[in-house]
Amino acid sequence: MNLKDEYIKFFVSKGHKQIPSAPVIPENDPTCLFTTAGMQPLVPYLMGQKHPAGTRLVDYQKCVRLNDLDEVGDKTHHTFFEMLGNWSLGDYFKEESIAWSFEFLTEVLHIPIKRLAVTVFKGNDTVEKDTESANYWKSHGIKEEKIAYLDAENNWWGPAGETGPCGPDTEIFYWRSNDDVPEKFDPEDERWVEIWNNVFMQYNKTDQGKFVPLKQKNVDTGMGYERVVAVLEGVDDNYQTSVWKDVIHKIEEISHLPYQGNEKSMRIIADHLRTSVMIAGEDIGIKPSNTDQGYILRRLIRRAIRHAKALNIDVSSHWEEQIASLLIEQYQEYYPEVKRNKEVILNVLKTEKEKFSKTLEKGLREFEKAISHLQDNVIPKEVAFKLYDTYGFPIELTIELASEKNMKVDEKGFQEKFKEHQEKSRMGAEQKFKGGLSGQGEMETKYHTATHLLNAALKEVLGSHVHQKGSNITPERMRFDFSHDKKMTEEEKQKTEDLVNDYIKRAIPVEKLEMKKEDALKLGAEAMFIDKYGDVVTLYKIGDVSLEFCGGPHVSNTSELPHFKIIKEEASSSGVRRIKAKLQ
Ligand code: ALA
Repeated sequence: MNLKDEYIKFFVSKGHKQIPSAPVIPENDPTCLFTTAGMQPLVPYLMGQKHPAGTRLVDYQKCVRLNDLDEVGDKTHHTFFEMLGNWSLGDYFKEESIAWSFEFLTEVLHIPIKRLAVTVFKGNDTVEKDTESANYWKSHGIKEEKIAYLDAENNWWGPAGETGPCGPDTEIFYWRSNDDVPEKFDPEDERWVEIWNNVFMQYNKTDQGKFVPLKQKNVDTGMGYERVVAVLEGVDDNYQTSVWKDVIHKIEEISHLPYQGNEKSMRIIADHLRTSVMIAGEDIGIKPSNTDQGYILRRLIRRAIRHAKALNIDVSSHWEEQIASLLIEQYQEYYPEVKRNKEVILNVLKTEKEKFSKTLEKGLREFEKAISHLQDNVIPKEVAFKLYDTYGFPIELTIELASEKNMKVDEKGFQEKFKEHQEKSRMGAEQKFKGGLSGQGEMETKYHTATHLLNAALKEVLGSHVHQKGSNITPERMRFDFSHDKKMTEEEKQKTEDLVNDYIKRAIPVEKLEMKKEDALKLGAEAMFIDKYGDVVTLYKIGDVSLEFCGGPHVSNTSELPHFKIIKEEASSSGVRRIKAKLQ
C-alpha cells in the first residue's frame, strides 16, 4: 500500500479533484522563500476566488520548512516533507471533514480506534468552543476522555503569513508506543503523536490583526507523509522507514560504514541532498548563491558535503550523484520535474561541490588552528568572517562546528562585519555602474526600464487590477508576470506593444526620486512588495506614464530603448499571466 496513492484515491472517491503539487518555490509570493503547507498555493481560493478544478480538492504538496533545519540529524526532523491535504472551498464543513478523516484512518489505514485521540478548540473572545467538532468525533465512537479542549496556541491554525485565511482546527493524534493505551488522552505525553490537522478556515486575519469572517467556510487539512509512514510501519526513526531505507543504505555503501553509530551525519546527508534535489529540480532554476533560496540551497549542499567528509567519503568521487540519482528515481513518478531537470540537478550539486571542496579542507584547518589559540570558548568574529569570506563556510556551518566543540561564535560581531562587507561591495557595484556599463549591464538596464513601461501599458490596456507579480531579465529578453485572470487577446497584445513603443518614441526622461514611503504611497506609486522597503524610498518616474518603487538602475530617457516586441503571452499560475518580450 502506498499512503500517497491511497489518500488521493480515497478523497477522489469522495468527490475531490486531484490537483498537482505546486512548486516548492512559491510562484507569486516573493515574501516567502518556500511553500510550507499544502494550503499556501490555495490562498486566493480559500479567500473566495473560484478554483478551476472545483470546490473539493486533494493533493500531495512538496514543502520546505526551515525552522527545524538545525534539528535535522535526529530521528524525526526534515527540511523537506510532503503534505497530504484535502480541501473544501466553501463546500462541505466540519461534519464531512471529520467523518472522512475518521473513515480513512480506521477503514483504509486500519488504525484501531483506541489508538486515536483528538484536540479541539476550547474557544476565545472571537470564536466559541468547538463542541460541534467534539460531537462529531463522539458520534464516531471517540470517547470524551480522548478529546482535549485546547487554546488558540494549539488549536488555531494560520494564517500562513501575517494575514490571510485561518481558523480553529481539530488535530488527530496516534498512540505510538508499545505501552498500553491510557484511558485518558494527555496531549503533553509524547507517546501521542499528531498525524493530521483539520483546519476550519472561516476567518481572514487582516493587517490590523482583526478576524473577519470569510465569504465561505473552508476546510484545509494536512497530514505529514513521512510521519504517518513511520507510524504505519511501527518505527520511531523516520530514516528507518521505507521512505529512506534505500537512501540510507546507499550512504552506508558509499561510506563503508554502518548506519548505527553514524546516524547523525547520514541523516543530514540524506535530508539535505533530498531537499537540494527538490529545490534545484524546480523549473524556475534556482542555483546556489548568497541570497534567498539560493543561499539555502548552498547551505544545504555545503553542510551535506561537510558531513560526507566526516564519514570519510571521498568527496571528489561521484557520491552526491549516486545519492541524488537514487532520490530522483524515487520521486520522479510523483514529481516529474525532477526527472525533467535531472541534468540540471546533478550539475548544481557537482558544481557547488567542486567550489566548496577546494576550500573546505583549508577552512577546517583554519578553524582548528583558530580554536587552539583561543582563551575562551567564543570564536571571534574575524575568524567566522574569514571562514565565510575566504573559505565559503556559511555562518551556520561554523556555528555547527563550534557547537560540536562546545563553543560559541560571536554571531553578532559576524553579522556586523558581514553588513560592512555588503555595504562595501554594493558601493563597489554602484561605482562600477557609474564608471561605465559593461555591454551586458546596458541591455539589462534597458530591459529594466522596459519593465516599467510594460507595467504601465498593461494597466492602460487591461485595467488597474494589473500589478507586477515578478520579473526576470537577461541581456537577451525580459519576462514579466502580472495579475490578470484571462488570456490576452491579439488586439490587447498589439495595443500594449504599440503603447510601449509609443512611450519609447516620445523620448520621456526617466527621473530618480527619493522620498518618505508614506508620501510615495500618497502619490499612488506602484510597489510590488511594500514591506520590503525602508522609510525613505527610491522611486523612478517616467513622465506621467509611470511611478514605481524601484532601486534602479534605469536609462535616463526612454528614447534609449530599441523597438519593443511581445514574443509570448501565457499563463504563469492561476490569476497570473506572463509576458516574454524582447528589445530589438
Ligand atoms: N495547513 C494546516 C497545516 O499545515 C493543515 O497543518
